[in-house]
Amino acid sequence: MEKNELILILDFGGQYNQLIARRVRECNVYSEVVPYKISLDEIKKKNPKGIIFTGGPASVYGDNSPKCDKEIFNLGIPVLGICYGMQLMSYTLGGKVASASTREYGETKVNINNDSQLFKGFENTNIFLMSHTDYVETLPSGFKKIGYTDSCPNAAMENADRKLYGIQFHPEVNNSVNGIQVIKNFLYNICNCSGNWKMSSFVEDSIKSLKEKIGDKKALCALSGGVDSSVAAVLLSKAIGKNLTCIFVDHGLLRKNEGDEVEKVFTTQYDLNFVRVNAKDLFLEKLAGVTDPETKRKIIGEEFIRVFEKEAKKIGKVDFLVQGTIYPDVIESGLGKSSVIKSHHNVGGLPDTVDFKEIIEPLRNLFKDEVRKVGLELGIPEKLVFRQPFPGPGLAIRIIGDITENKLNILKDADHIFTEEIAKAGLDRKINQYFAVLTNLKSVGVMGDERTYDYTVALRAVETTDFMTGVWSQIPYEILGKVSNRIVNEVKHVNRVVYDITSKPPATIEWE
Ligand code: XMP
Repeated sequence: MEKNELILILDFGGQYNQLIARRVRECNVYSEVVPYKISLDEIKKKNPKGIIFTGGPASVYGDNSPKCDKEIFNLGIPVLGICYGMQLMSYTLGGKVASASTREYGETKVNINNDSQLFKGFENTNIFLMSHTDYVETLPSGFKKIGYTDSCPNAAMENADRKLYGIQFHPEVNNSVNGIQVIKNFLYNICNCSGNWKMSSFVEDSIKSLKEKIGDKKALCALSGGVDSSVAAVLLSKAIGKNLTCIFVDHGLLRKNEGDEVEKVFTTQYDLNFVRVNAKDLFLEKLAGVTDPETKRKIIGEEFIRVFEKEAKKIGKVDFLVQGTIYPDVIESGLGKSSVIKSHHNVGGLPDTVDFKEIIEPLRNLFKDEVRKVGLELGIPEKLVFRQPFPGPGLAIRIIGDITENKLNILKDADHIFTEEIAKAGLDRKINQYFAVLTNLKSVGVMGDERTYDYTVALRAVETTDFMTGVWSQIPYEILGKVSNRIVNEVKHVNRVVYDITSKPPATIEWE
């Protein structure tokens, strides 16, 4: 079995770069996105089976447009240029790129030559997504046209002898019909990949290379209990065991039983040093009387860092700091500047005063669903792997107004009931985020023959893919009714339950 077949994706700044990488992995070939400026030596060292140039917003004739080393085409490694990538290939090899008067955008019928290895298995026409203004007007010498549309004379080209291919359309998006087959054809027919990569290979390879890199040195990880940091921690623990210390700062603002569940998983299932800091009292003290949401966030973020630092100092110098950064956290400039990590991570940013030499981010190239697959491979319980997003400041931003221990307990119990019923109804994977909010509204109710004057709990549930926009989830009335009944019956000091039916925008997902 050939090991580590790799497809390198050279990033020219297009919006679909990450998607191309994951499509390749879906075809069981490992892929990595690298800046377009990667040196020839580095490419040779990585020894890829093939290279894909992504699209990008630039024009090849523009000032400072991203260009690649011409020698890439002489390495004997197959290259597929997509959109800007095709134009760049043409321009670099002596073809001519022109600018159309109008942009061609949308699902477009492309006439294709299915004798080409790239289009094996397709009919003579296929619908692909086009999104471009520039196009290849004259092919470089040695190239043959293998596709065109009504308005684009060269929508696909090949130099089969040199294994160089260009396509003006985007096979990686769902709007392209069976676009994945174009990618498969490139990988299997042209690059001769065997497609033996699986998530388990990623796990094995990562553990091996982490072992080699870290040796018997020490690493430190801030564990939030979230999916990404948990998976990163377990991966590291498999590689270096007790040389990994995880610090879990429990600010007391987690959901019911959550802190204990995290502790149980990490102390019973894995071989690592686990330090739980129970800091609820400290956080509640700092938050006493605070009602402004942003002030709450700031206090929690700062305090979190302080507690982590204090604990890290006890451990002393470590060589590596582990972070659960994943691909969407990495802002790829794509245009040669180094990539920047989000400063606000799930735990509110990490200290820069902790003494370490290097950051390790083993999940940096993966998407969230891929991280979940890694988690399952590593035997992390499903409950943790499929945990819904939970904000760093925790329940503090789900208690409107000031926070007290009593309110915290009310919210934990109400939220637990909601979560339980959603899971029982089998809706926990369909609804992307759902939780209870303790409003600061008290109202009149009647229990038995007694008048009550108690809190209103709001239920929130949204369906979304990116959490930037979302719609309120149409949970069946019976389930809402059951949740409402249980909350008012089982949770003291709640006499009213309401359901939030606003989408985002205009409302945000969290109430604060
Ligand atoms: P909003 O409320 O802005 O939330 O619609 C979008 C997503 O972000 C999460 N969120 C946060 N996550 N720290 C975090 O780590 C925060 O301060 C924070 N505020 C919101 C929210 O849960 C949702 O998934």
